[in-house]
Amino acid sequence: MEKVIEISNLSFGYGERLILEDMSFSVEKGDFVGVIGPNGSGKSTLLKLLLRQIKPIKGEIKLLGQNIEKFNQWNKIGYVAQKASSFNTSFPATVEEVVSANLFPQIGLFKRIKSKHRELVYKALETVGMEDYKDRLIGNLSGGQQQRVFIARVLVSEPELIFLDEPTVGIDSESEGALYCLLGRLNQERGITIVMVSHDIGAVTVHANKIACMGNKGLVMNENTEEFAKNSLREIYGHDVNLHAHKHCCTNCWKKGAI
Ligand SMILES: Nc1ncnc2c1ncn2[C@@H]1O[C@H](COP(=O)(O)OP(=O)(O)OP(=O)(O)O)[C@@H](O)[C@H]1O
Ligand SMILES: [Mg+2]
Repeated sequence: MEKVIEISNLSFGYGERLILEDMSFSVEKGDFVGVIGPNGSGKSTLLKLLLRQIKPIKGEIKLLGQNIEKFNQWNKIGYVAQKASSFNTSFPATVEEVVSANLFPQIGLFKRIKSKHRELVYKALETVGMEDYKDRLIGNLSGGQQQRVFIARVLVSEPELIFLDEPTVGIDSESEGALYCLLGRLNQERGITIVMVSHDIGAVTVHANKIACMGNKGLVMNENTEEFAKNSLREIYGHDVNLHAHKHCCTNCWKKGAI
């Protein structure tokens, strides 16, 4: 199997304090990895390391087979940050402009947007059910609608690998279900590799094929999500949870047809 992320002996700390110590794991093409763990266990820090926003003290990171220090395919990587910190929504830009901004590497910064690009933007908005809002100002949308637009912004550049850091914070439960459903379909139907940090263990165990548990400066990858779910969900809910009931979640998906 082709590895899209390879981490070997990675250590990182802010100042003297180690947050991650001697961590090694890999993610294969087509995986949907749910990253869980208590507050402060280093989940967001790990994503920042994978996005090269911070540098490790020790160890190696490879993305799409390339050492991160020389990595030059950032257009194939999508990132949906935790909503509040990700974007200045008072900026007077329309939904269409916010999404097409992620095409600038293709379009060129000062060139006019062509109809083929406009079509890509429309398609991405359609995938998240926001095409009717394309001329609206981003700042005038609700939190959940903005989050959908940020996902369209990532999709428009057709990434192979998407990182999401708690993407459902501030989203109502219906939109939350729709978002997980969409991610599951992007993974299943388009083969996009997904790494998602979430505190929603129930949703993660349904949609992910691997669960990465962070804690004690390390990461344990669970490849048998059913077994993991059985044990951990019983612990949380006090009884067995029927995961199959959640698998048919697509009744409220934003996008009913093919994606
Ligand atoms: N810029 C920073 N400078 C110093 N310490 C930091 C910085 N960012 C995070 N930390 C510390 O590093 C540890 C890991 O933080 P991180 O944000 O990665 O945790 P997390 O697992 O994402 O937590 P949460 O579930 O609350 O989002 C925490 O103890 C945090 O206080
Ligand atoms: Mg975090």
